[in-house]
Amino acid sequence: MINNICVAGAGTMGSGIALCAAQNGFDVILFDLNSQVLEKAISSIEKNLTSLLEKNKISVAEKESIFNRIKFTADIHSCKASLIIEAIVEKMTVKTELFNQLAMINSTETIFASNTSSLSIDELQKNIPNPERVAGMHFFNPAQIMKLVEVVKASKTDDHVIEKIVSVCKQLQKTPVVCIDAPGFIVNRVARHYYLEAMRLVEKGIAPIETVDTVMEASGFKMGPFKLMDLIGNDINLAVTQSLYDAFNHETRFQPSDLQINKVKAGELGRKSGKGFYEY
Ligand SMILES: NC(=O)c1ccc[n+]([C@@H]2O[C@H](COP(=O)([O-])OP(=O)(O)OC[C@H]3O[C@@H](n4cnc5c(N)ncnc54)[C@H](O)[C@@H]3O)[C@@H](O)[C@H]2O)c1
Repeated sequence: MINNICVAGAGTMGSGIALCAAQNGFDVILFDLNSQVLEKAISSIEKNLTSLLEKNKISVAEKESIFNRIKFTADIHSCKASLIIEAIVEKMTVKTELFNQLAMINSTETIFASNTSSLSIDELQKNIPNPERVAGMHFFNPAQIMKLVEVVKASKTDDHVIEKIVSVCKQLQKTPVVCIDAPGFIVNRVARHYYLEAMRLVEKGIAPIETVDTVMEASGFKMGPFKLMDLIGNDINLAVTQSLYDAFNHETRFQPSDLQINKVKAGELGRKSGKGFYEY
C-alpha cells in the first residue's frame, strides 16, 4: 500500500507531481538540493492552489490541507517513502547516484520510479540495488493537469511493482499506459519529429517560428512546437533528442537541431529562464 510519496527534484516536473499527489490525498516529501528551486516550488504550488480557490474548485480549508501535506526539504535523509518519483536532471549517472543514496535510507520494498523522458530504465536498473522495484513513471507537463502517465516496465521490473504504480496513477486521477522500455517510450519518440521538423523549417528559412506555431495550433494542436519547447525547457528537450539520436545510432531523423543547441548554449531555456524561442 502506497501512502506517502517522495518526489526528488522540485523543478518544472517535480513541483507539479508533488502538487498532484498532495491534491489526491498523499503525504508528500518534495526534495531538491537547490534551496532557491525549493522556494520557487513553494510559491508556484501556492499560486496554483490560490488559482483553484479563486475558481471555487477548492475551499480555504482544502487549500491549507493540500499545502500542509507537502514537506519541502533539501535534506536527503528526510526522503523516506513507499514510492519515490525522481524528476531531477536528465543524466543517467546523476539519477543512478541519487537512487543509490536513497536505497541506503529506504526499505528494499520502496518503489523507485523515474520520470525520465528518454533514458533507458533497463540501464538505470543495472546499477541500483533491488532492480525489480525500479520502473518508469513518465508524467507530462504540466504534471498536475496532464492526464497521461507512461508506466515503463523494464526487463527486471516486477509485475506487482507495475500494478502498484498503475494503482497510484489512478488515485492521482491519471490515465496510465503501460509500455515497455524503448528509446523515448511512445510519446517522445513520436513527438520528436514535431519539434525537429519545425526547427528544420525555420533553419531553412521556409517559415518563421511564429508562423509555424500559429499554423500548427490552427490545425488542432494545443500548442505550437516552439511554444511547447519553451514550456518543456530547451535543455530538457535537447537532452531527449540527443538521447534518442544516440539510441538510434545517429540516424539523421533524430539529429539535434543547431537552433536548439544554440538556445541551450545561450542559456535561453524557455519559460523557466525567462527567455527561449519567445520572451516571458
Ligand atoms: N520538462 C518537461 O516537460 C518534462 C516532461 C516529462 C519528463 N521530464 C523529465 O523530468 C525530469 C526533470 O525535468 P524538469 O523539466 O523538471 O527539470 P528542471 O531542470 O526544471 O528540474 C530539475 C531539478 O532537479 C534538481 N536536482 C538536480 N540534481 C539533483 C539531485 N541529485 N538531487 C535532488 N535534486 C536534484 C535541480 O536542482 C532542479 O531543480 C527529467 O528527467 C526530464 O527528462 C521533463
